[in-house]
Amino acid sequence: MRQKMVAGNWKMNKNFQEAEQMFETLAELIKDNKPEEAEIVVCPPFPYLELAMDMLQESGIGIGAQNCYPKDFGAFTGEVSAAMLYSLGVQYCIIGHSERRSNFKEDHAFLAEKVKATLVNGIIPIFCCGELLPEREKGHYFQIVEKQLKESLFFLSAIEFSKVIIAYEPVWAIGTGVNASPEQAQEMHHYIRQLIRKNYGEDFADETVILYGGSCTSTNARALFENPDVDGGLIGGASLKPEDFLAIANSF
Ligand code: 13P
Repeated sequence: MRQKMVAGNWKMNKNFQEAEQMFETLAELIKDNKPEEAEIVVCPPFPYLELAMDMLQESGIGIGAQNCYPKDFGAFTGEVSAAMLYSLGVQYCIIGHSERRSNFKEDHAFLAEKVKATLVNGIIPIFCCGELLPEREKGHYFQIVEKQLKESLFFLSAIEFSKVIIAYEPVWAIGTGVNASPEQAQEMHHYIRQLIRKNYGEDFADETVILYGGSCTSTNARALFENPDVDGGLIGGASLKPEDFLAIANSF
């Protein structure tokens, strides 16, 4: 049985004091709202990771970063490596978010390097894929997502691939208030699972966690998560409100 999961991507939000407050509230709320089925992961900005580790340790909430650099150490001013994240105790790292693809021009090959670096360093990558609005409108969305997965993930060995979490995030749904319909999400998640089946076989396809992201809220989460191939969510805006975030995590 696949693990259900809800991960919160805070993006570049909250100052230190607000982050501290968020962790405190999350740790308090989860005592009475611990999801039976889902694992919860929080991905705050880098400067708050250590605090998150300290404050959420008891709660069972997993900690993830939002990005990493593919080299372990060296002259890469301003970057943070997967090796550093591992040494801090971070368990997950988001790779290939559409905001990094578009704002920082991260391409398939660079993302493949990042995926490899996380796995080599014992970090679980949450690999994001998803099409832009014009690609959806032209009906090219399957090819786009297939290429993203093929170029940045499918070079992995089966053992390596078994650690990967995939997040389907249609770019037109991110931060827009327009989520993919449950049918659209299921259609793509099913397609992704078929691709995994083709590349790695039935067992690996059945075991791969595929999250949905894009305007997922406590109102629409249940309908999205009810789908057989949707294993949870990667949550942006709604993860900034602890009550909403935990309500989403309890929507299975
Ligand atoms: P929103 O939930 O704010 O649409 O963001 C989704 C996202 O980008 C998560 O990575």
